[in-house]
Amino acid sequence: MAPAMTTTSSSSDDTFDIINYAVHQGHGVKGLSELGLKSLPNQYVQPIDERIDMTTVIDEHSIPVIDMSDLSDQKVADSICDASERWGFFQVVNHGVPLKVLDEVKESTYRFFSQAAEEKNKHSKDNSPTNNVRFGTSFTPHAEKALEWKDFLSLFYVSQEEADAYWPQACKDEALEFLKSSEIMIKKLLGALTQRLNVKEIDEEKENLLMGSKRINMNYYPKCPNPELTIGVGRHSDVSTLTILLQDQVGGLYVRKLETDSWIHVPPIEGAIVINIGDALQIMSNGRYKSVEHRVAANGNHNRISVPIFVNPRPNDVIGPLREVIEGGETPIYKQVLYSDYVKHFFRKAHDGKGTVDFAKI
Ligand code: OGA
Ligand code: NI
Repeated sequence: MAPAMTTTSSSSDDTFDIINYAVHQGHGVKGLSELGLKSLPNQYVQPIDERIDMTTVIDEHSIPVIDMSDLSDQKVADSICDASERWGFFQVVNHGVPLKVLDEVKESTYRFFSQAAEEKNKHSKDNSPTNNVRFGTSFTPHAEKALEWKDFLSLFYVSQEEADAYWPQACKDEALEFLKSSEIMIKKLLGALTQRLNVKEIDEEKENLLMGSKRINMNYYPKCPNPELTIGVGRHSDVSTLTILLQDQVGGLYVRKLETDSWIHVPPIEGAIVINIGDALQIMSNGRYKSVEHRVAANGNHNRISVPIFVNPRPNDVIGPLREVIEGGETPIYKQVLYSDYVKHFFRKAHDGKGTVDFAKI
């Protein structure tokens, strides 16, 4: 159901068309936040089950922090694989991506979002000359009953030339640099993870399947009136092979503890990068590595940004449990699916926890 175009609330904050302003004119939730609303517009009020219930958040432990400086040490490779089986999420330090690159991509995220709505809206679904660049708000507003308190820019990498032609000047170079500088770290992580899946060597075909396409997003979560009534990003798992997430120091990312109803906060660590397993690697590993549900809280005091890189198979790849995994005698629990069909299924619906993976279940 589409959100109502006008509101029935008697609140004075709702006397103009919120959806038109935020979604269609490109002001986003950043624009709403800067209006200084006293209360959250109705369209953003989430059902109770979708809000973060702080009594379900446990703080006795968090996800592992792994030092990547010596990957020739089998213990380090093992800790990457163990974390991917048990938590689906970990943070890495000494990852080899220069801090300057991280700082500059965060700065450029602020630079992009600080532009006028008309400028950002040139990259909206309706206005962008390419599907590979998309500025938007919430997740998929036409399919959501309640909207999410987030604006984003999403950039699908094709080539330097394509980026030069279409990516916003405000952040193009910095986004490309982050993509390039994280390449070696990504290969190391995938090398360690596939070793445990009996993959002897990542040849060109396997490399394409694991990391043949990449998407970089820039997320902006502005300060929110009544943050406890809404959500920055709803419960979901990523459709990637791996996600590389750079977050700032504000915090607010929560990860579900596997096989429980408890949630764990991912504490910001200066210079660290958060890594999580996506659905594609859960499927390729036949369920050994876990793509875990996560979500982001809205914040009443601070603006927050994050910059994830989604490392993906190529759209035309067929993904399923890897041959090397099945040869070991395991029964496949997932079928072979065209990756672009899988991704379409994800974007067709509102965030729904781990719902997307059912699409590939046998
Ligand atoms: C995402 C996501 C988390 C964050 O973009 O898929 O989960 O901290 N982001 O912004
Ligand atoms: Ni995510």
